[in-house]
Amino acid sequence: MRTPIPRAALRPALQELSPDIGSRPDVPIYLDWNESRWPLPESLTRKMTEAVTSVDPRPYPDRSYPAVREALGRLAGWDPEGIAFGNGGDDMLALIGVAATGPGRTGIYPSPGFSMYPWAIRRAGARPAPVPLGEDLAYDVDGLIARIGEEQPSLVFLTSPHNPTGQQLPLDEIRRIAEAAPGFLLVDEAYHEFSEFTARPLLDEFGNVILLRTFSKAMALAGGRLGYLLGAPEAILSIRRAQPPFPVGIYTCRAGAAAMNERAALFELTARIVAERDSLRKRLADIPGIRVWPSQTNFLLFHTPADSTVLARRLLARGVALRDFSRHPMLAGTLRVTVGTPEENEVFLGALRDSLAAPILPEELAGVGAAASPVA
Ligand SMILES: Cc1ncc(COP(=O)(O)O)c(C=O)c1O
Repeated sequence: MRTPIPRAALRPALQELSPDIGSRPDVPIYLDWNESRWPLPESLTRKMTEAVTSVDPRPYPDRSYPAVREALGRLAGWDPEGIAFGNGGDDMLALIGVAATGPGRTGIYPSPGFSMYPWAIRRAGARPAPVPLGEDLAYDVDGLIARIGEEQPSLVFLTSPHNPTGQQLPLDEIRRIAEAAPGFLLVDEAYHEFSEFTARPLLDEFGNVILLRTFSKAMALAGGRLGYLLGAPEAILSIRRAQPPFPVGIYTCRAGAAAMNERAALFELTARIVAERDSLRKRLADIPGIRVWPSQTNFLLFHTPADSTVLARRLLARGVALRDFSRHPMLAGTLRVTVGTPEENEVFLGALRDSLAAPILPEELAGVGAAASPVA
């Protein structure tokens, strides 16, 4: 018989976090996590295969990963010394949480927003302070600045364009927030390739602005896990102190470098996804009772005329996974759909129309409140 686990040794704050983030049902059409659903360009598949099969895995990578750092610098148009990278954007959120918050400090984030922000703040032992979005789910910049004044946070998270609303915050508004923030402002640009907008000009103006980017969306490598931060070199060097020496495996580095070399093909794919998004938005908005928010990303948020949890379950039964955000009071009745391939979007629209056509039975409403996805 094993002795009991030392419960008192576990940090109490960690017990509030879910151990299951990242699990999902087994269905053919995943339109729930905003990955790239489109086939990879053939040239990229070939280059990645070559790059990965020629790796010698015996030595540790060079601590500074010069080749990847240089390639990221070229991709982002930024000083390689001002770049930190790791195992996906989530890992970078965890890193900035540890580096810029901690016990006795506060981190501010938009709500509704990406669920990993309060996770990163709590994980570091700091206090999460959600700031509600404003009218019609747009950023309330004045409200956010007022709250920054009250809370004096060491870290503020922003998402640009925002997840789950898909909307872009203008550069001047981000600038106002950067001026107001007494600590770091992390501008999460996970979807920036779809909006062709970046807050990068602010990196030349502000020492406290850090951008987050990922290879999981337009770069089509969610399974590879590669994310990076851009910022003033002194800030990035300090943040990197909290990173283990080898934060990314050499296979991922090689695959990421191949993706960067093939970025023209990936950008062409991004343009096709954007065109498909706009067409999907129109077709979705044509369904009676559906309201769709404008989007600068590879996903759409829409309000449904029927219980959204029941609809999400019906879609799942037809093999299509979506995100149901109705657990958040400001998102009652909303679903988020990733822009799939044209064929997948047809299946989704058909399944949605069928699901809306059938009346909701009382037994379908059982446990609806608890079933929705977590949202910050
Ligand atoms: C706003 C936002 N930031 C960051 C991420 C993290 O992506 P990853 O950890 O796959 O790089 C996501 C993923 O969905 C996201 O939506």
